[in-house]
Amino acid sequence: RNFILGSTAAIAASSGLLFAMRSSIAWWPNSGSRPRLSMPKLIDTTTAGAFTITARAGQTEFLSGVPSATQGFNQTYLGPVVKVRTGTTVTATVINELNDSLAVHWHGLVIPGDRDGGPHQAIKPGGTWKPRLDIDQPAATVWYHAHTHDTTAPLVYSGLAGVMLIVDGKDNERGLPSDYGIDDLVLVLQDRRFDASGRMVYRPGMMDRMAGFHGDRMLVNGALDPSAAVPRSVVRLRLINGSNARIYNLVFDDRRTMQLIATDSGLLPRPVELERLRLAPGERAEVLVDFSSGKPAMLSSEEYVLSGGGMMAMMGNPPSLSGASAGNNGAAPILAFEPAADLPAKVTTIPAVLDDNPVQQLAPPARSRFLSMDMMVGGPGGMMGGGMMGQMGINGQPFSMERIDQRIARGSVEMWTVRSTMRPHPLHIHGVRFRIVSENGQPPRMENVGWKDTVLVEDEVELLAEFTRPAAADTPFMYHCHILEHEDAGMMGQFVVA
Ligand code: C2O
Ligand code: CU
Ligand code: CU
Repeated sequence: RNFILGSTAAIAASSGLLFAMRSSIAWWPNSGSRPRLSMPKLIDTTTAGAFTITARAGQTEFLSGVPSATQGFNQTYLGPVVKVRTGTTVTATVINELNDSLAVHWHGLVIPGDRDGGPHQAIKPGGTWKPRLDIDQPAATVWYHAHTHDTTAPLVYSGLAGVMLIVDGKDNERGLPSDYGIDDLVLVLQDRRFDASGRMVYRPGMMDRMAGFHGDRMLVNGALDPSAAVPRSVVRLRLINGSNARIYNLVFDDRRTMQLIATDSGLLPRPVELERLRLAPGERAEVLVDFSSGKPAMLSSEEYVLSGGGMMAMMGNPPSLSGASAGNNGAAPILAFEPAADLPAKVTTIPAVLDDNPVQQLAPPARSRFLSMDMMVGGPGGMMGGGMMGQMGINGQPFSMERIDQRIARGSVEMWTVRSTMRPHPLHIHGVRFRIVSENGQPPRMENVGWKDTVLVEDEVELLAEFTRPAAADTPFMYHCHILEHEDAGMMGQFVVA
């Protein structure tokens, strides 16, 4: 199984020189013509206590003059950013104006199963769903997206996703940037494929089913190759990997560091300095970046390379992003930042402490479970024993709406050991936040030291979770691979908490 382990350090070292050169020649001359990044419309529920999102089909011009068929919430592609305050109850109204059933899941909300929006809660065409969301968890960047049985991948790809900010009103006290769209930016990262005429397309072939569907062009908040104006100060970036399958290794072209302040489910106790940030599908990270020097910078992504040979080599690495330098370890530009003197510079220092609450200790686990995220599940002998190409499952079984895979005692802490076969798989668990105990036999990497709801399992991950929210058999919680083509192909299970 050692062929699954990636060696990001080696990749990082070898690509440094290449992309330093490339960024000065190939991309900078274009940066002036990059479209301005815009923030999704903000719905602030901290006063209203309610919000409405309506899913509908539309057309979006990613390239001007070339409309693509897309779907979105309240707009033609993606949806509004919904701000909710912890300690409040928010009534969501989800209206489905599509021609097919649609389930909408609140990825990262730790709420009971009957409001979670999993595949058992599909809204009929023309229908409305009004879940009451009791927000009772720390501040975090979470998101919502389509979760319809068997069709999550094409629906999310078409645009059915949006961001939700859980706030607690303490960011000023902490010294964190919180001016939405000025020094507090929401960045939904999505790779997409376009045909020769410039229309966005989703046509997965056999390889895309195995590796997940990768695009070669980057959208940020639905904009193709944009640039962002930022104040000459410390800026907070809320990064959401909203891609179907692509794993990013985010790095600035000038190697300026990022201060990681939050992972999926909330703030770290103090900032962690990183030069490179890995983000797998479904994961979020908040970072602080210092633009006070006024120097522009390009946020780029190095390729995440599968190492080793054998079966892995047969399936290959995913297609590169455009602009990536030659070879397997190139970095591709994603978002240009242009500091502007006329924007208000509020936060000029990185706070030393973010969350002085002592890290919540979890009780020792009451029991443990083992999950194997399997590709090519088959009869006796597993993948080598003639399993069907393209079939996927967990512990050898493809997802079934009719089968409850795990029964968990409410309030208990459990240790889950999760293994990936063939490729790395990002595991997401509904209804909880968890801590990583170990990763590939080592202590967790820096990106995984905080509270998480999604984790990239390269080889083996051990995690601890406390299951506090109930879920009955008619609306169970899901756990699944967040490579959406794998999820739709059956790499998902469901559990009740009672
Ligand atoms: Cu983000 Cu079950 O999904
Ligand atoms: Cu979820
Ligand atoms: Cu997977």
